[in-house]
Amino acid sequence: MYVSDLALTDFRSYREALLSLDPGITAFVGPNGQGKTNLVESLGYLSTFSSHRVASDAALVRHGAARGIIQAKVMRDGRASVLELELVAGKANRARLNRAPLPRTRELLGILRTVVFAPEDLSLVKGDPDGRRRFLDELLVLLSPKLAGVRSDYERVVRQRNALLKSAAGARKSGASGDLRTLDVWDEKAAKAGAELIAARVRVLHGLRPHIESAYERVSSQQSVASVIYRASVQQVMSPERAELDGASQEEGESTLTNADLVEAQLLEAMSRLRPKEIERGVSLVGPHRDELELRLGELPAKGYASHGESWSLALALRLASYELLKADDWDADGEPVLILDDVFAELDTRRRRRLSEVVANAQQVLITSAVAEDVPEELDGARVDVMDSVITRVR
Ligand SMILES: Nc1ncnc2c1ncn2[C@@H]1O[C@H](COP(=O)(O)OP(=O)(O)OP(=O)(O)O)[C@@H](O)[C@H]1O
Ligand SMILES: [Mg+2]
Repeated sequence: MYVSDLALTDFRSYREALLSLDPGITAFVGPNGQGKTNLVESLGYLSTFSSHRVASDAALVRHGAARGIIQAKVMRDGRASVLELELVAGKANRARLNRAPLPRTRELLGILRTVVFAPEDLSLVKGDPDGRRRFLDELLVLLSPKLAGVRSDYERVVRQRNALLKSAAGARKSGASGDLRTLDVWDEKAAKAGAELIAARVRVLHGLRPHIESAYERVSSQQSVASVIYRASVQQVMSPERAELDGASQEEGESTLTNADLVEAQLLEAMSRLRPKEIERGVSLVGPHRDELELRLGELPAKGYASHGESWSLALALRLASYELLKADDWDADGEPVLILDDVFAELDTRRRRRLSEVVANAQQVLITSAVAEDVPEELDGARVDVMDSVITRVR
């Protein structure tokens, strides 16, 4: 798959931009602040509805404008799809496919598949669990777009359940008993959507695991083996002694998590055990929103232990593994993803640059941004676009 045309209206720094793209490698090289990242970010956003740079969409709409539009023509197996997303600050996005409005915006997900490599990836390894959960969830939606519904259902249920827990806590403080029966209903909803999400995440992880191991081996010069473990909060509530288990036993316990019915029952049981605590705290304490994707190098967790270089190798390995898994296409959706390398070469040493270039050189479409031409490895030199303006046919 590749993007043949991109049009932006009031997106980031662009009032209007039109851009034609070819398959193969394109490198945008130009001074800082020119808008290189803005261009590729728009495609990443069209693919996952999230930006690799900001958590809130507000910054994506051009300052002073009410809404921004991203349009892209995506070619797959000789067929074109035109994707359009309208971003309205503070409101829900609107989507069109081949000019027809989509009843649900999320129906656009999965049509354009991208894997974005960026300096921000380092926080996948060093940052909070939240980023790792998002990594897994975005990948799972690209692999199986229908799961976008499960993910958003679950997030909505947790928000509503939290509100209810808070009001139950307030009611209890003022002497009333709170509406516990309504809470039962929300427990059931949370357990059902939560179990589906956990099962899907673990299936993705099973697919991803061998690729992470081999990608890490390729990019790092170290001997240690990279591994990943899904630590489910539900298992920790049900059997706290699990926390002490070694990596292999953790992985063993993980396979039971792909049985959604079983997990649903466990989640219900865990919620009932935690109820007094949850009401006291006013938040949902168990479920996929509290799970951790633990990254390990050898015997040690990467977070807090890995060196800077090791962390970079691992972050790269996660992205490369995503690319390999998406390429393998034995899931619901298919199509080799577009690779986006936003300013990554500046962060990497020669060895990692070379390794990354090797993979990239064979991909169907690769979009690279770099402030310095010398940072783009020689292997990818032929496709350098020195002046951005030469590819943007119209910019205002
Ligand atoms: N919502 C917005 N409205 C207007 N301008 C914006 C908006 N968001 C970002 N910008 C501007 O876009 C520019 C940044 O563009 P971008 O990050 O794409 O640059 P870049 O070419 O990737 O630079 P670098 O080489 O430093 O990575 C900044 O000047 C910033 O002020
Ligand atoms: Mg940039």
